[in-house]
Amino acid sequence: MADHKKEIDQHSGTETTGHEWDGIRELNTPLPRWWLWVFYATILWAFGYWILYPAWPTLTGYTHGILNQSQRDDVTKALAALKDQRQQAAAAFSNASLQQIEADPNLFTFAREAGKSAFGDNCATCHGSGAQGSKGYPNLNDDVWLWGGKLDDIQHTIQVGVRSTNPETRNSQMPAFGRDKLLEPAQIDDLTEYVVFLSGHQANQAAVTRAQPLFKEQCAVCHGDDGKGNREFGAPNLTDKEWLYGGTRADIHAQIVNGRGGVMPTWASRLDPVTIKALAVYVHSLGGGEQ
Ligand code: HEC
Ligand code: HEC
Repeated sequence: MADHKKEIDQHSGTETTGHEWDGIRELNTPLPRWWLWVFYATILWAFGYWILYPAWPTLTGYTHGILNQSQRDDVTKALAALKDQRQQAAAAFSNASLQQIEADPNLFTFAREAGKSAFGDNCATCHGSGAQGSKGYPNLNDDVWLWGGKLDDIQHTIQVGVRSTNPETRNSQMPAFGRDKLLEPAQIDDLTEYVVFLSGHQANQAAVTRAQPLFKEQCAVCHGDDGKGNREFGAPNLTDKEWLYGGTRADIHAQIVNGRGGVMPTWASRLDPVTIKALAVYVHSLGGGEQ
């Protein structure tokens, strides 16, 4: 067909390619100008790009382009800058006292964030992801504290733990009055009523009267004459509505019989001081922190 003669289609006025099938001829419509220019421009653009930017693989690597641009280098630089910034924050942080950290918005934000993530990794298993606690594991959001709710108290608890392996651990042990037969079952029943009475609920008056001297004798050393507890021994306040082991008669009875003592691990050997500080500020800021 190469030798076809140029033909002009009469309807469109356009040249044909000379191809013809069953009387149907193919028009040779030219590409629009604008389209062609865009096409040439992209080719030029590609050449420019190859020269400026990394483009072609070579046997030993790739062409770097004269701008020598590398996203990997950019990321490395950005990470280094971030690390530097973090180190500065951490240095300021470790030099500041807990009180200064709480007073400084930047340090406080840093502590809240670092503390929250460390809490999720290390503490949530026992205290719950929202630090709400569960039976035997104290709620850290409320203002009820076994060992104290000031910044320094909290930091100390985290450092040494409770009944932990740390030689300076917070320690105390409520006797197992029932299991070790220190008291008669009837006395334990009376004391159960007494604790129910202390917490402000309806209790058997005769039992309460019988238990009163017994409480003074057996329990007041730790829980106080008025039953309001003593933080030196981690002895809970028995007059509030918050319970570590539950507030039903059966729960209270079980604790007097068995004298359970919760174990909180020591973190001084596992977490660095900055993390422990951040945790102390974080826990303190959850809602129940004391001044
Ligand atoms: C293995 C379980 C466990 C883990 C993990 C744990 N705790 Fe505890 N934590 C306890 C128990 C149990 C108590 C209550 C101890 C007691 O009965 O006196 C406690 C008590 C506390 C107290 C004292 C509460 C008060 O009322 O005085 C604080 C503060 C605390 N934990 C913070 C933390 C932080 C922060 C972490 C993470 C670094 C953590 N805990 C990890 C079990 C745990
Ligand atoms: C040597 C100190 C000590 C003595 C004595 C003691 N307790 Fe306790 N008691 C504690 C401690 C500490 C706890 C908290 C245990 C824990 O944190 O796991 C506790 C917890 C309790 C609880 C559970 C409170 C809760 O919030 O769930 C009850 C109830 C209780 N004691 C009643 C008594 C009674 C009644 C007596 C006297 C017969 C008594 N205790 C004597 C130290 C003592």
